[in-house]
Amino acid sequence: MEHLLNKKRGSTQPELAVEAKGLVKTFGNNRAVDGVDLKVPTGSIYGVLGPNGAGKTTTIRMLATLLRADGGSAKIFGHDVVKEPQIVRQLIGVTGQYASVDESLTAMENLMIFSRLLGLSRKEARRKAVELLEEFGLTEAAKRPLKNFSGGMRRRLDLAASLISQPPLIFLDEPTTGLDPRTRNQMWDTIRRLVKMGSTVLLTTQYLQEADELADRVAVIDRGKVVAEGTVDELKSSIGSSSLQLTIQDAKDIDEARRVVEQVLQAQSNVRPEAGVITAPMNDADRATDLLIKLREAGIHLTELSVQKPTLDEVFLTITGHGVDHSSNDIQEDAEEMSV
Ligand SMILES: Nc1ncnc2c1ncn2[C@@H]1O[C@H](COP(=O)(O)OP(=O)(O)O)[C@@H](O)[C@H]1O
Ligand SMILES: [Mg+2]
Repeated sequence: MEHLLNKKRGSTQPELAVEAKGLVKTFGNNRAVDGVDLKVPTGSIYGVLGPNGAGKTTTIRMLATLLRADGGSAKIFGHDVVKEPQIVRQLIGVTGQYASVDESLTAMENLMIFSRLLGLSRKEARRKAVELLEEFGLTEAAKRPLKNFSGGMRRRLDLAASLISQPPLIFLDEPTTGLDPRTRNQMWDTIRRLVKMGSTVLLTTQYLQEADELADRVAVIDRGKVVAEGTVDELKSSIGSSSLQLTIQDAKDIDEARRVVEQVLQAQSNVRPEAGVITAPMNDADRATDLLIKLREAGIHLTELSVQKPTLDEVFLTITGHGVDHSSNDIQEDAEEMSV
């Protein structure tokens, strides 16, 4: 794959693979994307991180020329997505959350068909298919029809299919949502390899750990707006050197507990009332002692207290004022995909 990828990469590639300014998309009176700016450096992995419904897919679809923006502009390697869609399409690969391939055909046949559609000769198509199946660890499964494929295998085949044209920029929309941990790790390796070979990857994720693992830079998106941007380390440090997490025994105490926390730590806290959890940035871990005393004086009982290095989860909580609900994502994601 390497030599082919390299063919498309002149030394003249612009510094930015993606430059979006003030992108807007409205569905009815829902501003799904509400003025998004993005700058994705060429050769990097860029993460767009946000919960379900944040506007990630809509943003990607506009960047990929699949959806017309209602406002703002976007360039891919310097080419305007509205004025030069044909050029842009030659520079990108898009994979959705589901494989867009034929169930009754084998993996090999599917890749052959994609290759032929892209104008490769029969011989080239076969060579390409074999190469990609190997790259994605699907050689063993090459002759099996897709209907017998696991979710992870489908995802990899979908990615393989999108790479036939060796796009310099690859959009991955939640590449690992719903995958088991082992397959997720394989996917991560593949994504890292793509970038080593010179591609730029823009991926969306609701998994904070995934952004942490993969992304050089991250845009945190919430309700159609970018609420934070930077390296993962910058995001982590923006919320203080450590993070305090308290679980309150009695839900009715939560407001009072929050007041005490904010007073003692001199910082804004965040609450997940349903879980009875309060999170707050803390620059001086010794303050935890003062806090415990104050809470006891107020008659508030804790079931758990921890002080830790901030995780991206807490970054998200701090920035957006609400946590990420990981529980029901896949089901909603399915429903959404059907309605689009
Ligand atoms: N084709 C569509 N028609 C109407 N509403 C849509 C459409 N696509 C997305 N939405 C809405 O726009 C918002 C953002 O959706 P989406 O971009 O899919 O978010 P994400 O990918 O971050 O989960 C959601 O409220 C969603 O319901
Ligand atoms: Mg989505």
